[in-house]
Amino acid sequence: MRYIPIIQFGVGGVGRALIRQVLATAEQQARYGFQFVYTALADSDGAVVATRHEDEGLARALLEDLVEWKAAGKRLAEHPEGYWQGDLAALVDVAGWPGAIVVDVTAAEAETVAPAFQRARDLGYGIVLANKKPLTGDLRLWDLLHAGPLRYESTVGAGLPVISTLRTLLDTGDSVKQVQGALSGTLGFVMSALEAGQSFSAAVREAHRLGYTEPDPRDDLSGMDVARKALILARTLGLPLSMDTLTVEPLYPPDFAALSRDEFWARLDEVDAEMQARVASAAAEGNVLRYVADVSEAGVSVGVQAVPRESPLGALRGTDNLISFTTARYAARPLVVQGAGAGVDVTAAGVLGDMFQLAQVCR
Ligand SMILES: NC(=O)c1ccc[n+]([C@@H]2O[C@H](COP(=O)([O-])OP(=O)(O)OC[C@H]3O[C@@H](n4cnc5c(N)ncnc54)[C@H](OP(=O)(O)O)[C@@H]3O)[C@@H](O)[C@H]2O)c1
Repeated sequence: MRYIPIIQFGVGGVGRALIRQVLATAEQQARYGFQFVYTALADSDGAVVATRHEDEGLARALLEDLVEWKAAGKRLAEHPEGYWQGDLAALVDVAGWPGAIVVDVTAAEAETVAPAFQRARDLGYGIVLANKKPLTGDLRLWDLLHAGPLRYESTVGAGLPVISTLRTLLDTGDSVKQVQGALSGTLGFVMSALEAGQSFSAAVREAHRLGYTEPDPRDDLSGMDVARKALILARTLGLPLSMDTLTVEPLYPPDFAALSRDEFWARLDEVDAEMQARVASAAAEGNVLRYVADVSEAGVSVGVQAVPRESPLGALRGTDNLISFTTARYAARPLVVQGAGAGVDVTAAGVLGDMFQLAQVCR
């Protein structure tokens, strides 16, 4: 049996689901002749590290306790086995051995995690990301990450096979003409509600009430999260683009960005009339509005598009994500991937799938 050390940054919703899934899949791991062992867990200011590099790493009972501890909103540093830390690179140094995998399930800024990735690359460790930020910052970090074993399936469409599908298309010599995606469950919900006749402000309020939006809905309506995913798709396609080259349409007027959250909610219905007119003009042509990321060699755009009601994107309803790949081989009808594009369990499963793949390439 090969023991593969896991050094995990982030013990939030996805991080905790991932620990549970790693513990629950010992049998599946054994089938491939390996066992994942946690050697370090870190949150924003603390860590728990396996005291020795024993085969078992952190014990199952301790991991289960840490999952509960974090679910209760406590800090790792305050756990009896925890300590304060602010140096993720040092954690990579002390907690790994050859074949280790560093997993980033934080939403930390690229600069915060970059030194740890540099260390992982120096040591030949694998890297798995659910965090989009390291992949959407400076291209030098993109190149560093790609200089060794790397997977990042969950950054686009959570557990859906989006990046792996794109990789396979490229690796097998297909020519990818266009990738189109509805990549935000929140904005998908809002667009479906508009189609069903609801006003824009009412749709956003309902999405908020159902817990589909971030606490400040502008974080969804700005389109920036979709833009990050579009940039990851573009870079995977081989286009060396940066965030500032993307055309991104926010779903609110520019002056709303500076409003307090209360003022934003109070003025949201000012957007209704224009949105209703766009819905009506699309409907007159047999189209519906969708918030679409459009990626091709011509560039990347992120915003509202009128698409035929019968098209895959037009037929999409609710919070599902949909990604369509138009290629030389899938020319007449695109290859389509669809399903839940958020949620801690599917996201963690995407990360775990990446870990299974790296376990077979990192030695
Ligand atoms: N949730 C989803 O459906 C979904 C889907 C696709 C992708 N993702 C991505 O997955 C990542 C995790 O999402 P989540 O929902 O689990 O977020 P979350 O619940 O907010 O958890 C984030 C975790 O990262 C830790 N963290 C933040 N900064 C850190 C740092 N500098 N060093 C170490 N740890 C740090 C936080 O520490 P504290 O506990 O100390 O705050 C927390 O444990 C995000 O990048 C998100 O965009 C999520």
